[in-house]
Amino acid sequence: MTDYKIAPSILSADFARLGEEVDAVLNAGADIVHFDVMDNHYVPDLTFGPVICEALRNYGVEAPIDVHLMVKPIDELIISFAKAGATYISFHPEATEDIDQAIQLIKDHGCKPGLAINPETSLNCLESCLKDINLIIMMSVNPGLAGQSFIPEVLQKLKQARELITQCGKEVLLEIDGGVKVNNIQEIASYGADVFVSGSGIFGTENYQETIAQMRQELSVV
Ligand code: DX5
Ligand code: ZN
Repeated sequence: MTDYKIAPSILSADFARLGEEVDAVLNAGADIVHFDVMDNHYVPDLTFGPVICEALRNYGVEAPIDVHLMVKPIDELIISFAKAGATYISFHPEATEDIDQAIQLIKDHGCKPGLAINPETSLNCLESCLKDINLIIMMSVNPGLAGQSFIPEVLQKLKQARELITQCGKEVLLEIDGGVKVNNIQEIASYGADVFVSGSGIFGTENYQETIAQMRQELSVV
C-alpha cells in the first residue's frame, strides 16, 4: 500500500500565528510542511525566507520542511535554507543555468533535492537527473498564487512521471502542488502522486483535523 503524505502549504496559513498554525496541521495528522518561497522576480509575489524557516525550527517544529523555491537566482538561497533547517529543497529548472550543479549544492548542504515542474514544462529535464533527486513537485497550477483551480491536463504528466520513477528504480517522491482538495485527491492519487500539497484546501477550512481525515479517507480507497 502506498504511503501517502499530506503537506499543507503554509502560504494559506495565518502568518500572524504561524507556529500555532503549523502545530495545528501537524497535530491534525499532516506529514510535511510545504514552504512556498516567492521572490517578486521569478514570480510576482513575495512571501517568506530562511529566517521564517529557522523560526519554525526554533519553535520546535520537527516535521520535514519542504522548501519550494519560486526564486531566481537560487544558489544563495539554497545555502541559507539548508542552514535554516530545510529538509527538502526544490527549485524550478528554468531558474538556473546548471541544474546538476544546483542539485549537488543542495546535497552538499545536507538536504534532499527536488525539481518543480510547471504545467507547461516538459518532463525531459527529469530524464537525466531523476537518479539524483528525492522529490518531484508536479505543479498543477501556475506558480505564484494560492487558491487557484487544479489544471486537469497535468494528470497525464503525473502518470508519465510515475512511469519514469518506476523505470529509474529509485525512490523519488511524486508531489502534486496546486488546487488539491478533499474532492479531487483520490483521482490525483490514482495517477501516481504520493505527496499532496494543499494550502487553501486545508487552511481555508474550519477544522483541519476533519479535513485531513477526509483526505486520508479518500486515499484509503485508491
Ligand atoms: C503555488 C504554490 C502552491 C500553493 C498551493 O505557487 O506552489 O504550493 O500554495 O495552494 P493551493 O492548495 O491553495 O492551490
Ligand atoms: Zn508550492
